[in-house]
Amino acid sequence: MYKCKFVLILFFIIFPFFSYSNENATGIIKERMEKFQESKNLMRAINKNLSDSNFNVITESAEKLNKWANEMHKFFPKGSEASTSNKSQASANIWSDTEGFKKAIKTFENASAKLIKISKNKNIDNTFSSFREVAASCKGCHQKYRN
Ligand code: HEC
Repeated sequence: MYKCKFVLILFFIIFPFFSYSNENATGIIKERMEKFQESKNLMRAINKNLSDSNFNVITESAEKLNKWANEMHKFFPKGSEASTSNKSQASANIWSDTEGFKKAIKTFENASAKLIKISKNKNIDNTFSSFREVAASCKGCHQKYRN
């Protein structure tokens, strides 16, 4: 019983420091992973709504992607690249080639902005090719900056 209490106390003493020191890296990596998962869902939603010619949902989804493109740079602080202790797939190239990474974000930002505009015209062919440009911008960045 005595031993048990001791361990418990030790746990409460150590735990706050432990979680504090890990919070930054884990927090931001987790957050960006969630954002990317959301991007995947938005792309699926756009794909589905293309076949239903539901242009309003496409515009709204593209707006969310564009908002994410605008804030993405804030989610990659130095020291948050993939390591054996985190689940990140962020390549070290992001920090060794910051200009290239910025460009890849810009390509995604422009492609999503274009999709917002084009989807409003409700032309299926143009919207589809604009959607493919967005998908290409995801892939282009992953090839260089995701492990
Ligand atoms: C400018 C670069 C860039 C763009 C653009 C980009 N991604 Fe990513 N993506 C990354 C990086 C880097 C990671 C790895 C993040 C990590 O694990 O820390 C990632 C991870 C992911 C993941 C895995 C998330 C997880 O849970 O581990 C998915 C899914 C994803 N991206 C989808 C997309 C989709 C869909 C798009 C386009 C709509 C997109 N990404 C655009 C760089 C990008």
